[in-house]
Amino acid sequence: MTAASQILDRVLVLEMVRVTEAAAIAAAKLIGRGDEKAADAAAVEAMRAALNGLYMDGTVVIGEGERDEAPMLFIGEKVGSAIGKGPRIDIALDPLEGTTITAKAGPNALAVLAVAEEGNLLNAPDVYMDKIAVGPGYSKDIVNLDRTVTQNVTAVANEKGVQPSELIVCVLDRPRHEKLIAELRALGCGVMLIPDGDVAGVIATANPDTTVDIYMGTGGAPEGVLAAAALRCVGGQFKGRLLFRNDDERKRARKWGIEDLDKIYDLEELAKGDCIFAATGVTDGSLLDGVKTLRDGRVTTETIVMRASSGTVRRVKSEHGRGNIPG
Ligand code: FBP
Repeated sequence: MTAASQILDRVLVLEMVRVTEAAAIAAAKLIGRGDEKAADAAAVEAMRAALNGLYMDGTVVIGEGERDEAPMLFIGEKVGSAIGKGPRIDIALDPLEGTTITAKAGPNALAVLAVAEEGNLLNAPDVYMDKIAVGPGYSKDIVNLDRTVTQNVTAVANEKGVQPSELIVCVLDRPRHEKLIAELRALGCGVMLIPDGDVAGVIATANPDTTVDIYMGTGGAPEGVLAAAALRCVGGQFKGRLLFRNDDERKRARKWGIEDLDKIYDLEELAKGDCIFAATGVTDGSLLDGVKTLRDGRVTTETIVMRASSGTVRRVKSEHGRGNIPG
């Protein structure tokens, strides 16, 4: 067992809870305040401080953007208290997944983190990704991006033993999805339109408490890697293909070592080997309760933390005393 896998094993699973909790608590102070940037900045700062308290030689591989566009948690930033001597860990993060949701006090905003041994998370550039996902229990490659919407929906319906009209498909509510939504409605599917937050949308396919059968559509590529890390832990299938709007985006992808720009990535290519995924609810949602402040000033959080190698899924409900809550 390598030093990195030992630390994933023993320490990081629970330490990661503290990291996403810190980001969620900080962002929650700005729920419904109409200021996306302030909410994001608060989450970023809190997550960075918490990460820097962990004994590891961490590298942000998916973060807030490239060095020149993000002052903190930029791609390539080193984090952890043991740089050069601790276990080498790659980190994909989104301190506030759902900045607009938070600003508007909508559902499903999360503080999200995935970690893996060095080299195991795809260094996805900040471009769009075409995504399709289903939960566990279907035969391998039941859905894929080289098939039509109708073919994918029909395949899932057949295996589930229902009509396509009985399926619920989650899609980001965007004008670019007009054709996709029309095709799904023509099949009779229920379309669950979400305003933002496709990490939660993808995870919903694997959550028996939701009615979502399939996730489809285009969202951020970094969010695709985070969602893939989550599905690696709970089961389910995911395919993603990077989408480029211009040469600059293609250049950025090549800079991160991506050669085949049309490649369809499978779960294991986005998040390889062992990995851990953690998310704390910022606002209430289908996956997690959001941050709540009690009458005595204590704060409650709910976090899900899961690990690919063991398939363990833990839900952690915490009550934070004033000493733990940033001012
Ligand atoms: P932010 O938290 O960065 O605002 O991202 C929210 C989100 O909805 C993601 O979940 C999704 O992948 C992406 O934005 C979609 O991008 P766009 O808003 O450009 O359609």
